[in-house]
Amino acid sequence: MRNFTSVHDIGNLDVAIQNAFEIKKNRFAFDLLGKNKTLLMIFFNSSLRTRLSTQKAAMNLGMNTMVLDVNQGAWKLETERGTVMDGDKPEHIREAIPVMGSYCDIIGVRSFARFENKDEDYNEKVLNEFIRYSGKPVFSMEAATRHPLQSYADLITIEEYKKTDRPKVVMTWAPHPRALPQAVPNSFAEWINQTDYEFVITHPEGYELDEKFVGNAKVEYDQKKAFEGADFIYAKNWSAFADPNYGGILNEDRSWTVDSEKMALTNNACFMHCLPVRRNMIVTDEVIESPQSIVIPEAVNREISAQAVLKRLLEDNCL
Ligand code: CP
Repeated sequence: MRNFTSVHDIGNLDVAIQNAFEIKKNRFAFDLLGKNKTLLMIFFNSSLRTRLSTQKAAMNLGMNTMVLDVNQGAWKLETERGTVMDGDKPEHIREAIPVMGSYCDIIGVRSFARFENKDEDYNEKVLNEFIRYSGKPVFSMEAATRHPLQSYADLITIEEYKKTDRPKVVMTWAPHPRALPQAVPNSFAEWINQTDYEFVITHPEGYELDEKFVGNAKVEYDQKKAFEGADFIYAKNWSAFADPNYGGILNEDRSWTVDSEKMALTNNACFMHCLPVRRNMIVTDEVIESPQSIVIPEAVNREISAQAVLKRLLEDNCL
């Protein structure tokens, strides 16, 4: 594995899950693997879990870590070629990336969709520039279209909590006051489509995701019908994907909030969310605080997915 940007980089998922469980049994078993190696984490956007869990994972492997918040304390970066740089961005990303690459062995990048240009977002312009110009293995810490470290942790969590071999997993849209990217739902769908779980996506009409990510999932516009018999409810907001509304909020229909009445339709389902979550928009206090809520174990597994990915990058690139 040279880079990690999607489920397609990880190889066999059963092996990936077993690797994660091995790490979870003893996360310090490989504490010399990353000796004298440096991880650089670049954040174009805010983070709590990704920042801390990935740093912790690197430390478990004996790595040194450096974190750069591009928009706080670093030079603002121009990303377009041909721009006359007479504005507020004194450095071009084409110089910044190889310089950053020269100071580290592995680079993690967080760069969300900007909703300015759908093609640039869906072609992962910023992430791919790091892959092309850094000279180092690159992994996504949530890019414009995917959040693979989150999805890997989600899958580990489902494997830990499932009560049947083939659970019914339902990903539901839920309301949010701001326009959010499609990266988490795209990525979750992409990973779950690689399993043999029963997979249903439910959302109001107009919030259809890119069919490339929906894959074989059943799309059900009736949320209550979708919840019937579910073993896992994965809640997330996302903005519209389809043109001409790309990146737009079509409604904030509070009837889509996950509450106890809807959870009662399920097969005593576990409630999941990647966090941060807006309570009483996405999910009620009652549901997220219930014994069915596994949002904390899900976040705990972010350290495990990050460590499994960093271990592979160190080993596969002979670092
Ligand atoms: N779930 C997740 O990626 O959390 P952060 O945005 O806090 O990193």
